[in-house]
Amino acid sequence: MDRVTLAGTTLEISPLCLGGAPFGAPLSDAESFALLDHFVELGGNFIDTARIYSDWIPGEKRRSERVLGDWLQARRTRDGLVIATKGAHPDLDRASSPRTSAADLRSDLEGSLQKLRIETIDLYWLHRDDPTRPVEHFVDTLNVFLREGKIRAWGVSNWTTPRLRAAHDYAQRSGQLCFVANQPFWCLGHLQAKPPGFDGWVKLDAAMHAFHAETGIAVIPYTAQAKGFFTKLNLPFWKRPLELARHEFHTPANVALGRVVAEIAGARGVTSNAVVLAYLWTRAFPVVPIIGASRPVQLDDNFAALGFRLTPAEMRALETASCSGL
Ligand SMILES: NC(=O)c1ccc[n+]([C@@H]2O[C@H](COP(=O)([O-])OP(=O)(O)OC[C@H]3O[C@@H](n4cnc5c(N)ncnc54)[C@H](OP(=O)(O)O)[C@@H]3O)[C@@H](O)[C@H]2O)c1
Repeated sequence: MDRVTLAGTTLEISPLCLGGAPFGAPLSDAESFALLDHFVELGGNFIDTARIYSDWIPGEKRRSERVLGDWLQARRTRDGLVIATKGAHPDLDRASSPRTSAADLRSDLEGSLQKLRIETIDLYWLHRDDPTRPVEHFVDTLNVFLREGKIRAWGVSNWTTPRLRAAHDYAQRSGQLCFVANQPFWCLGHLQAKPPGFDGWVKLDAAMHAFHAETGIAVIPYTAQAKGFFTKLNLPFWKRPLELARHEFHTPANVALGRVVAEIAGARGVTSNAVVLAYLWTRAFPVVPIIGASRPVQLDDNFAALGFRLTPAEMRALETASCSGL
């Protein structure tokens, strides 16, 4: 399988990234191991977790990182894997109080290294921004971690385009390593969905798309499959889940968009989900979707979609029906 090289690094990542938010809860440890094993069997090597996952479920803290660390130890498979985790997230009960001092960033990083039981994090994400701090603070601090060998590269998640530009310009001016990837909320129909059930998200929009087209920096979007909405919508009506009307993506505009997805999928002989994924990676800059999965069999479908690209006419039809402004 082709790998994507993250510009400015030697990191070679699979064209799909496995999302780790459900590791340990709601997925059991054994189910998480099965998902990780199957992802690697299919050729995947890029795994995304975060210090905060899944602290919103009562009980154990830092569960997702712990489960990933257990799996790495059990399988002895660190070589060739690209492990990404995130820090700088506010405490869940104090969402409006950023945790972004140099001490907070270091404490999160050290905590993640301990939970994962690894020496270096391949790609370290800043999970949230804090616009009260200058971008220089983040670029300088992350470059200290790079020089210490604790991370191999860094990225940003949920940052706005003006902040991306400012950090990019400062890193260039100061001769330091810039973020090598951006992790926004992006999928087909995301601008027409109901707000997600958590704070601090930033959606990719036309300005952010232009930034990536200009710089060639990779986008590694989350909620990349619209949480399976278009697949569920395009099932025969007797198989559709009863709760579909309450789905985050269920709005009149996305139901209309679903018809365009179904037409393209039917004409090209692929699944609705293949159209949803190809909408992201049919771009002039690298896009590596983070995929959530509740069952290993979903990964087969995701990997089967990899070679599929949309035509310019199909892209136009999807952009128009999703009012993306791209
Ligand atoms: N940086 C951030 O702030 C942030 C925020 C959110 C998430 N994330 C990252 O992104 C990851 C994924 O997030 P997400 O769960 O929202 O993403 P998602 O991939 O859009 O949604 C996952 C859901 O899509 C459905 N699905 C998966 N494969 C499918 C297939 N082949 N066909 C049809 N449906 C399929 C499944 O739904 P069913 O189980 O209902 O079938 C699955 O639970 C997280 O684990 C985390 O790593 C990051």
